[in-house]
Amino acid sequence: MRQPSSEFSEYLTEHQHIEQLAEEVVATVRAGDWSQCGRAWARFVELLESHLTTEEYEVFPQCNNSALVDRLISDHELFRRRLEQTMRAIHEKAATEDEILSLVILIREHGELEDELLYPTMP
Ligand SMILES: [Fe+2]
Ligand SMILES: [Fe+2]
Repeated sequence: MRQPSSEFSEYLTEHQHIEQLAEEVVATVRAGDWSQCGRAWARFVELLESHLTTEEYEVFPQCNNSALVDRLISDHELFRRRLEQTMRAIHEKAATEDEILSLVILIREHGELEDELLYPTMP
């Protein structure tokens, strides 16, 4: 597979970092440690939000596969809805491991799709 240029390789590194932060959130929920969970969640959301926004403004406009971009944008919208729901659940100390794991899986699959189909085609 062709590697993306260095301008875009940072996004692939961010995919790994987002996943690590998500795993930390899962671990705090598993431990029932809601104060650590709130902190881990804040770190995760901060990086994810900035990643999504930067892709939308800096990366997607340079991609000429409009069907792929439409799919990726609709994933981003789904993530934002899920982030809202999960944030409320964490605030109410009612978040479940399954809820967060299912979000982690969606984000992982989205990142893999970008790693395979988006970034290798970038100029
Ligand atoms: Fe994305
Ligand atoms: Fe991404």
